[in-house]
Amino acid sequence: MRTKITIVGAGFVGATTAHWLAERELGDIVLLDIPATETMPKGKALDLMQAGPVVGFDTKITGTTDYADTVDSDIVVVTAGVARKPGMSREDLVGVNQKIITEIAHNVGRTSPNAIVIVVTNPLDTMAYLAYKILSTHYGFTKNRVVGQAGILDSARMRTFIAMELGVSVENTHAFVLGGHGDEMVPLVRYSTVAGIPISELLPPERIESIVQRTRQGGAEIVNLLKTGSAYYAPGASVAEMVEAILKDKKLICPCSAYLEGEYGLHDMYFGVPVVLGRNGVERIIEVALNDDEKAMLKKSADLVRNTMSMLALS
Ligand code: 2OP
Repeated sequence: MRTKITIVGAGFVGATTAHWLAERELGDIVLLDIPATETMPKGKALDLMQAGPVVGFDTKITGTTDYADTVDSDIVVVTAGVARKPGMSREDLVGVNQKIITEIAHNVGRTSPNAIVIVVTNPLDTMAYLAYKILSTHYGFTKNRVVGQAGILDSARMRTFIAMELGVSVENTHAFVLGGHGDEMVPLVRYSTVAGIPISELLPPERIESIVQRTRQGGAEIVNLLKTGSAYYAPGASVAEMVEAILKDKKLICPCSAYLEGEYGLHDMYFGVPVVLGRNGVERIIEVALNDDEKAMLKKSADLVRNTMSMLALS
């Protein structure tokens, strides 16, 4: 059977994810949106497929508004939902996106019961939690099969800022951003390096602090510049990285939002932590040693996620 990757939501994030994935030739792509979008997903899919001869990929891409076309997907990426506008926080989106994620989770559970689900919709950790609760309660999904995208994106932003500051290749940079995907995310300076050298040996504390702050505000910076929506190139690329790690069983260590049952002292919530991504999804959570400052920042971030989770009306 051919590998099938479904992307729910054919907006900017969904379509850009399809774009990055098409080039990687990891499997057939199904781009799905709601019936009200009529033929739009078909248009985007056909357009993207016609880039194949030019760019050099043979990926089959289908656009649809019918879950029947997504049946038995290996991976389902959920990007659907309302994005924030300038001045809004990710948390402001709970009510409207809860409804959307609930419906999607039931549809995915029914049509792709063996899939690994990657949630991208904001507020990320809370929406991943909601999707997991529905998929595990009604469709038997285990926690390793529902994961949230955030840490690769947040770390990529930090890596970009480090490379810009030092005038070095982004490929030499390594950064680890943990915690919730919100303004209290935790960029771990001690675990961030350039060619293996800790950034604290390369940059003065005030420059590092400014990189940390810019990383935390990374999503808002783009929202404020775009004025009509939120980021999609880097979020899409980050999802493609996760899909590849899973389908190629790479055992990639990266920060993702995962279901915690005691790790980092946290229970029954989704939160950004380092995981091993492979064919079974989140195969392992890695617990790194944290100092008191880092623990305090992580707690603040977890409190914020819990606060957002409390806005969910769970039935
Ligand atoms: C971001 O950080 C939209 O949350 C997304 O850009």
